[in-house]
Amino acid sequence: MIAIGIDLGGTNIKAALVDKKKGFIKTSCIPTHADMGKEHVYDRIAMAVSDLLDEHDDEPIGIGIGMPGMVSMDRKTVKNPPNLPGFKVENVADALKQRTGFRCVIGNDANLAAFGSARFGVGIDFDDFIMITLGTGVGGGIIYNNKIYRGTTGMAAELGHVIIDYHGPLSNSNTRGGIEAYLGQRFLSRYAADTIRQEEENSLYKTFHKDFEKLEPVDLYHAAKEGNELAVGILRKTGEKLGYAIVNYIHILDIRKIVVSGGVAKAGKFILEPAKETAIKYLMPPFRENFDIIYESLGNDAALLGAASLAFEEL
Ligand code: BGC
Ligand code: NA
Repeated sequence: MIAIGIDLGGTNIKAALVDKKKGFIKTSCIPTHADMGKEHVYDRIAMAVSDLLDEHDDEPIGIGIGMPGMVSMDRKTVKNPPNLPGFKVENVADALKQRTGFRCVIGNDANLAAFGSARFGVGIDFDDFIMITLGTGVGGGIIYNNKIYRGTTGMAAELGHVIIDYHGPLSNSNTRGGIEAYLGQRFLSRYAADTIRQEEENSLYKTFHKDFEKLEPVDLYHAAKEGNELAVGILRKTGEKLGYAIVNYIHILDIRKIVVSGGVAKAGKFILEPAKETAIKYLMPPFRENFDIIYESLGNDAALLGAASLAFEEL
């Protein structure tokens, strides 16, 4: 059985033809051109789909689409996806069915990253786990009894918006001190730039002082690996913040396995170890048992595989 998985973001449309057993058959990635409006974005998705099916004879069972924002219980409509201007309350599934002829289901990108991990990644080993995706935004997905936990109206697991410090920095969702305001890519880069600005002797200062906008989390990771203590310290503080959020998730859900994926997670042990230490320190002792943080090496592919898996299991 094959299906099409789409990961629709503000920057790129990633698409894949996926075999239920073997995983990826073919993948593609094109710019979203989100600023050109939603009709244009739909046209581009339809184009990506027809390119994938070019020279392919088997009929896919349908399309699964992952995107940021909150998705309705019937898996058709998304509400206010960040970075996709023009998409307000939008029936993405019907719009794409009209353009492609295929049945469509949509899901929150991070929920689908969790689902992809559950079906194709490290999550195969666990019936219950919490996924945290560290990218432009911070997303969350909860797998409970091998299924996506969806809450009352389908929108559960906006884990990036859990507040850990009400005096903290303001985030896109207009909350203060949400975990996204520390680990979201732009927020982390900005915090790092503000810190490095004070340290004129540091090699990171020397590389970036002309244009701190160019500094990305991956630069911190490389510097930390080379022994740059300032970078290690920035990532440690960031990891501690993640640790506090994890304590909250575990105290609410009693799920002990935390799976982390996405660009920022590539800072690996420099973020995840302090996160783990902090969590162990503040978890109520019985919750420490079997607790672990695991890196999902599928990275961004997790959401694509999860999107296709949604098509397999829901269409
Ligand atoms: C959004 C989530 C999304 C996450 C990752 C957050 O800002 O609120 O819906 O899953 O970013 O893209
Ligand atoms: Na989510």
